[in-house]
Amino acid sequence: MSILSFLYASFLLLSLGDACPFHEGAGVVFNYTITTTENNNFRSAQRDAPISKGKIAINNVRVFDGHRILPATTVIIENDTIRSIGHSSDANTHIDGNGGVLLPGFIDAHAHPSNFTDLQDLSRYGVTTAMLMACFQPQFCQSLKNHTGLVDIVAGSLPAAAPGSIHANIVVAVDGNEDRLVKNASVASQWVDDAVAWGPEFVKLIAESPGLDQQTLDILTKRSHEHGKRVACHASALDAYTQAATAGVDNIQHAPLDQPISASLAKRIASRGQVATPTLTILRAISDASPATRNYTAAEESVRQLKEAGVPIVAGTDANLVQGLIAIVPFGISLHEELQLLVNAGLSPAEALRAATSVAAKHWGLSDRGVIAPGKRADLVLLSGNPLEDIGATKTIQRVWLAGVEFSGAIGTF
Ligand SMILES: *[C@@H]1O[C@H](CO)[C@@H](O)[C@H](O)[C@H]1NC(C)=O
Ligand SMILES: *[C@@H]1O[C@H](CO)[C@@H](O)[C@H](O)[C@H]1NC(C)=O
Ligand SMILES: *[C@@H]1O[C@H](CO)[C@@H](O)[C@H](O)[C@H]1NC(C)=O
Ligand SMILES: *[C@@H]1O[C@H](CO)[C@@H](O)[C@H](O)[C@H]1NC(C)=O
Ligand SMILES: *[C@@H]1O[C@H](CO)[C@@H](O)[C@H](O)[C@H]1NC(C)=O
Ligand SMILES: *[C@@H]1O[C@H](CO)[C@@H](O)[C@H](O)[C@H]1NC(C)=O
Ligand SMILES: [Zn+2]
Repeated sequence: MSILSFLYASFLLLSLGDACPFHEGAGVVFNYTITTTENNNFRSAQRDAPISKGKIAINNVRVFDGHRILPATTVIIENDTIRSIGHSSDANTHIDGNGGVLLPGFIDAHAHPSNFTDLQDLSRYGVTTAMLMACFQPQFCQSLKNHTGLVDIVAGSLPAAAPGSIHANIVVAVDGNEDRLVKNASVASQWVDDAVAWGPEFVKLIAESPGLDQQTLDILTKRSHEHGKRVACHASALDAYTQAATAGVDNIQHAPLDQPISASLAKRIASRGQVATPTLTILRAISDASPATRNYTAAEESVRQLKEAGVPIVAGTDANLVQGLIAIVPFGISLHEELQLLVNAGLSPAEALRAATSVAAKHWGLSDRGVIAPGKRADLVLLSGNPLEDIGATKTIQRVWLAGVEFSGAIGTF
């Protein structure tokens, strides 16, 4: 089997004792070389397309600015930037918002896009920033970045996985190179130095059992911080979640599907300023597929504990289209499902919206976005409904702007 054709797939695999997916007909997904070239060609073609420049006034909109909703007003954008709120101006273009709600573009803080179709799907559903939660091949990951008029991709590193762990299968499957695994604590610092060499925006760790031990996770985290990189850590069982918290990672991904975290663990996470991205969408899909061994109710209970303790909660979906692995989660539409699931788990609609806008931007250090304010990126979503009354109203997308470029295929009401 050609290893390269073998997907970068299931770094998203939630390791609770699943069989190795590569023995179960995961299927050939794509060829990195070809997909990278296609993505780069698409980007070049888009760059040559004409973009309307100048001032656009979006009139008669209620603004959810990332924190709260304001009365009906006008928002002016100029080129890629929000200029003003509440001022009339000499705009060249006027858009009637019809009393709809204008929000900051959504951030999906856990996704695995692989080609420009995935980027278009994210964009059409109002997702204007997505965290590429693992990278197995730098040129390929770079081919997903910097696409004018499409979702902005923030890329993670190769995932740090231990030999013999479930995620090791995925890392090694990409190029057959066992050296890409984290062998032990003595080589952990060097592993980070190598992993950040190509310039990922953050480092991805995997806590699982069997997997990296506590000391190794601690060193990986410390070294990443010395490089100025945030650390996101996969943890889908209680033991792993505890390890990730103890290591001091910045952002814990998923939630335990075996049993809920305790109030005291949630408090410890809060006191260390750590952030949680529960990815309820994929957790629910997984537990629907294996209800005997996966307890979605436990994941919801953890979200309640995290919220109660004051841990910032960020929206992420684990969107991926890898056939034959744990669970398919479509791009873009899943962010709306995540918002609904966060509300079902106890967040208010405003809290869920912040989880996908201002709170996500703040805790990922993206100070140029996540809010509607002068000087910020013009990443915007115009809804006809009001999601603060019913979170389901995010599914009324009239228009989407990505750094000021309107996406022509906004999904509408769905
Ligand atoms: C991927 O495609 C390239 C270009 O067509 C080809 O040279 C290469 O052998 C393919 N790689 C694999 C692993 O199939
Ligand atoms: C917006 O773009 C136009 C056309 O490129 C340029 O003339 C103008 O200076 C830009 N405005 C700002 C504020 O950068
Ligand atoms: C991108 O990947 C998806 C899922 O594998 C596939 O359906 C789609 O056709 C691909 N797009 C391109 C342009 O190859
Ligand atoms: C992104 O593309 C623009 C051209 O549209 C280029 O000027 C810029 O350097 C690119 N940025 C990065 C980080 O590659
Ligand atoms: C750690 O792993 C490296 C690389 O495989 C090896 O050379 C070294 O001996 C190991 N160190 C310990 C203490 O096991
Ligand atoms: C699932 O978790 C919930 C919440 O902790 C618990 O009440 C329930 O008993 C668990 N179900 C099973 C089958 O373990
Ligand atoms: Zn993932």
